[in-house]
Amino acid sequence: MKEQLSSLKKEFEAQLKHVSSLLQLEALEQTIFGRKAGAFTTLAKQMKDVATEQKKAIGEMMNTVRLKIVKELEEKREALQREEMKKIAETESIDVTEPHLPKEAHGHMHPMSQVEIELSELFRSMGFMVLDGPELESDYFNFEALNIPPSHPARDSHDTFFIKDHPEWVMRTHTSPVQVRAMRQYGAPLRAVVPGRVFRNESTDASHEHTFTQLEGLVVDTDISIADIIGVMKGLLTGILKREVEVRLRPGYFPFVEPGFELDMKCLVCDGKGCNVCKHTGWVEMMPCGLVHPEVLKAGGLDPDVYSGFAFGLGSMRLVMQKYGIEDIRHFQSGDLRFLKQF
Ligand code: DAH
Repeated sequence: MKEQLSSLKKEFEAQLKHVSSLLQLEALEQTIFGRKAGAFTTLAKQMKDVATEQKKAIGEMMNTVRLKIVKELEEKREALQREEMKKIAETESIDVTEPHLPKEAHGHMHPMSQVEIELSELFRSMGFMVLDGPELESDYFNFEALNIPPSHPARDSHDTFFIKDHPEWVMRTHTSPVQVRAMRQYGAPLRAVVPGRVFRNESTDASHEHTFTQLEGLVVDTDISIADIIGVMKGLLTGILKREVEVRLRPGYFPFVEPGFELDMKCLVCDGKGCNVCKHTGWVEMMPCGLVHPEVLKAGGLDPDVYSGFAFGLGSMRLVMQKYGIEDIRHFQSGDLRFLKQF
């Protein structure tokens, strides 16, 4: 065990010398501390087989090695960040003599940002934290921690952008991974929303984009029920759309909630008559939601016998389309001023 520990440390230090980017550093960190196959994690799991009289000495050594590696990782991270900042400072220069832009060339906030801010304020007023999470996410948080193991068919519906040579990373396909991150960081009780960009490798049309936004919601407490979901959802939709909306709940399947629902809203673009946005059904899927699955609570470090929760994933771009009667989701990222100037 002692030899294994010291060769792990040597191997780590040898590899650390070759690390030249933050991404490589994260990958190296995974090979050491990854929850499943990390070299250190694997050794730590073997502690239970160590003879009692050796436990103390080996335990201490493990701790020293761990602290040393964490410190070296941290130092390298800081150095890389400093380098990056330096590069930026060298390539960007500000010319203070340049005349400023004429008034009409000034921009304004994108309609998506405006609504995202409005949503964040609305939720803050209800006692929610507003969190964010990484767009380049680990397979573990994007799928596994959400009760979607490698062979699970639900992965197919998540047309994922994978990262070349890095099977352990994905561009996050949804904001749900932040559910588990939040539970681990803040414990319970918890109220949080997470606005952010997500990515899907699928062909685009009036209601599908490769890059779009969601707003994840999560509430964890000691006795949460479906009535709580319905109350919050209605409050949210009327608060943002500033008019009465008609909604319906259908059962929906998502591995990380049980039971799961699909909350639909009567299409405001065509008033339920049928159009491109609602795929001629008169209804738009607004918000999948449900009670947080016990496995997900466990992944977040919470005891499902004590805590329950609800979660929802609002398609916030779709909401903005409904709010302003925008008929094609591709306008948002087109950079077309004729579109943007209307807001
Ligand atoms: N993350 C899911 C998706 O993008 C949406 C979702 C479904 C989020 C149910 C939730 C939920 O929080 O409870 O497909």
